[in-house]
Amino acid sequence: MVSVVIMAAGAGTRMKSDRPKVLHTVSGRPMIDYAVMAAQAISEDVQVVLYHEADRIEAHLMDTFKNLTCLRQDHARFPGTGGAIMAAKPRHDRVVVLNGDMPLIDSDFVRKLSEVKSAASLSTFCHPEPQGYGRVITDGDRVEAIVEQKDASADQLLIQTVNAGVYSFDRRFLESALPRLNNHNAQKEYYITDLIALATEAGEAVTAVMGDALTLMGVNSKAELAQAETHHQARLKELWMKAGVIMRLPETSWIDSRTVFEEECEIEPGVVIKGHSRIVRSTIKAHSVVESAELIDSQIGPMARIRPESALKDSQIGNFVEIKKSTLTGVKAGHLSYLGDATIDEGTNVGAGTITCNYDGKAKHRTTIGKGVFIGSDTQIVAPVTIPDRVLIAAGSTVTKDPKSGDLVLSRTPQKSIAGFFDRFFGSKS
Ligand code: UD1
Ligand code: CA
Repeated sequence: MVSVVIMAAGAGTRMKSDRPKVLHTVSGRPMIDYAVMAAQAISEDVQVVLYHEADRIEAHLMDTFKNLTCLRQDHARFPGTGGAIMAAKPRHDRVVVLNGDMPLIDSDFVRKLSEVKSAASLSTFCHPEPQGYGRVITDGDRVEAIVEQKDASADQLLIQTVNAGVYSFDRRFLESALPRLNNHNAQKEYYITDLIALATEAGEAVTAVMGDALTLMGVNSKAELAQAETHHQARLKELWMKAGVIMRLPETSWIDSRTVFEEECEIEPGVVIKGHSRIVRSTIKAHSVVESAELIDSQIGPMARIRPESALKDSQIGNFVEIKKSTLTGVKAGHLSYLGDATIDEGTNVGAGTITCNYDGKAKHRTTIGKGVFIGSDTQIVAPVTIPDRVLIAAGSTVTKDPKSGDLVLSRTPQKSIAGFFDRFFGSKS
């Protein structure tokens, strides 16, 4: 059995943000979530060490995960990643440690490290531009130490084998070595990385598990956050394409990692799908945005926006149509409409420019529209309104009262045509 400790107490200064680093999102989720998911896949004893913005991060974690322990680093006395691991209380004999800023980490790699038997082991990868990473000092096959960028000599800086920030320790070794860490370095911090040199000096076995630079990349800046997201998106889309989703120019779309597709769906270029969306047998045409919405057997776009708490079934939504908090079943809304706080039923056709006026300046009101309603273009429906089945609304109407089934609703001013006015006004041109 293995315990996993995730270090997430750092200030994340290089992010230049008020938001704690590990709460910055990759594919819609705070990056700490990926470390927690990888950890929970292999262990029931997952501990997250916090300090900076601890309450905020803990609140997020408690909302999102079960069976997680949050601990506080004694940062004033023991700053640095070494101080973070001192705060952990692992229950099992094998302790895997992860940095909280590795959004591409997967459970296979963490499992591989958890199976290592040596007193101390680290994960490494090769990077042609190892800027910012700790360099791994070896003697032949033997790992001797990790030297941080800020403490490294010019020669050491040339080393391209770097420390990934994932470790595996024998708990007894950890307990014996932690009191021996010191902060005699450029940053005056306690480094977890010094445990490797301590193990070597004590004659303990140290192993290095090689990984790839992508899976193990650490995020310290917003540029690295963007790089991590690019890789994460590519990985995510590949999985969905394998599962049967057609994606046209997939690199141009953005998909939340919490979104799910079922059966064959098609995504045209430039699509954004956010949150816990569920897309079933549907087509999303170019440049549409779906936000935490459900689409079943529907087609939307190009350039449609489906906002949260919307559910579309058997519906066709065209360009420049915005839908919010609405349920549409068997509805056609082809062009330029806003449908908010509405329930619209089968066979109803929503003409171009139709707007549900759902907000009166103080409160939101609902619109209910039945089956087989024909809504002429440029109609305003001033909610709350209930339109029963089989109503015909003439183009340009403002609907403020509930009609009866079978009615024609017509509220526009009758047309007046004044003969000869044009020439009188502009003068006739010969
Ligand atoms: C760290 C490693 C470096 C490695 C790199 C991989 C150390 C000293 N260095 O450097 O060798 O190549 O990760 O990405 O460990 N943290 C705490 N408490 C603290 C400071 C940091 O919990 O007092 C947490 C951070 O929240 C973060 C993780 O530890 O999740 C790593 O800290 P960070 O400052 O990003 O370390 P790096 O400089 O990237
Ligand atoms: Ca880092």
